[in-house]
Amino acid sequence: MSLKADFLEIQKTKVKEIETIIEEFLPKEEGYQKVIMEAMGYSLLAGGKRLRPMLMKETYLLFSGGEERKEEISALHAFMAAQEMIHTYSLVHDDLPAMDDDDYRRGRKTTHVVYGEDMGILAGDALLNYAFETALKAFAAAPDQSEKIAQALKILGRKAGIYGMIGGQVIDVKETGHAVSKEVLDTIYELKTAALIESSMMIGAVLGGAKEEEIIEVGRIAENVGLAFQIQDDILDVTGTTETLGKPVHSDEKNEKTTYVTLFGIEKAKEIVEDKSRSAVLKLKGLPGDHTYLEQLFRQLIYREK
Ligand code: IPE
Ligand code: IPE
Ligand code: MG
Ligand code: MG
Ligand code: MG
Repeated sequence: MSLKADFLEIQKTKVKEIETIIEEFLPKEEGYQKVIMEAMGYSLLAGGKRLRPMLMKETYLLFSGGEERKEEISALHAFMAAQEMIHTYSLVHDDLPAMDDDDYRRGRKTTHVVYGEDMGILAGDALLNYAFETALKAFAAAPDQSEKIAQALKILGRKAGIYGMIGGQVIDVKETGHAVSKEVLDTIYELKTAALIESSMMIGAVLGGAKEEEIIEVGRIAENVGLAFQIQDDILDVTGTTETLGKPVHSDEKNEKTTYVTLFGIEKAKEIVEDKSRSAVLKLKGLPGDHTYLEQLFRQLIYREK
């Protein structure tokens, strides 16, 4: 088996493991409000690359010396599920008519199309709130790790909020239809996309026992990965297909968004994706542990088609 086929096989197994973890943390569909639990599951279990929980776990393993320490790993699982809930909520709201107004996501009709706009908004709210209820379960899972868990919660909240993803979405929406400078666009990408990649990797590092300066370095690596990831997303919006992406193409053009493609053209944007990913791989080599899988994952993201 070639290295590439080997990597893809391992990745598939890892994605399955992550999906089992997410399912474990989903609320039961019960009560008069059960439509909201159903809508949460509809978006969360629709597939998706599961990149953020994967990055969290792989970063944890770098610092735990490859070991899955029993209590720590239960705490980590709660954070992996919480991180994917926050990411999924960001997508549910991003697709709303008031925002990007898109009808497909993860190969299905979007949540608001199936459940109505009211339930779409509430399903996003529900995922966000339940993410924190889920992450809080880490305290019971690993009572001896409460300091690390508190630090991880702080990162989760900060990177998802007005200084992170929400802040980025605000500037993105505000600047829709306007000419945007590279500086402002970089701020949008840093916040709307890189912030959740940063929290994923930083929380993995914290729970794995990384030192303060290592956590900061992990944040820098994740920033590069996150920026490259969003620029590649812009490229795929132009060059991809709805079938492969599972979401509409030309959404950015429809919404008159400034992107790396409109500012620099496809070829230059591709070069920037490669540069940022290469710089992430280089920095990764300075971290402890076995980086083989993470390095391959970073490289895969450069050429991803979905
Ligand atoms: C989509 O994220 C939103 C962006 C930040 C570009 P993903 O491309 O990771 O979406 P899923 O999780 O695979 O559906
Ligand atoms: C999304 O950016 C970032 C989020 C926080 C959801 P996009 O609007 O480009 O993401 P897609 O292309 O709809 O997935
Ligand atoms: Mg958007
Ligand atoms: Mg969008
Ligand atoms: Mg996009």
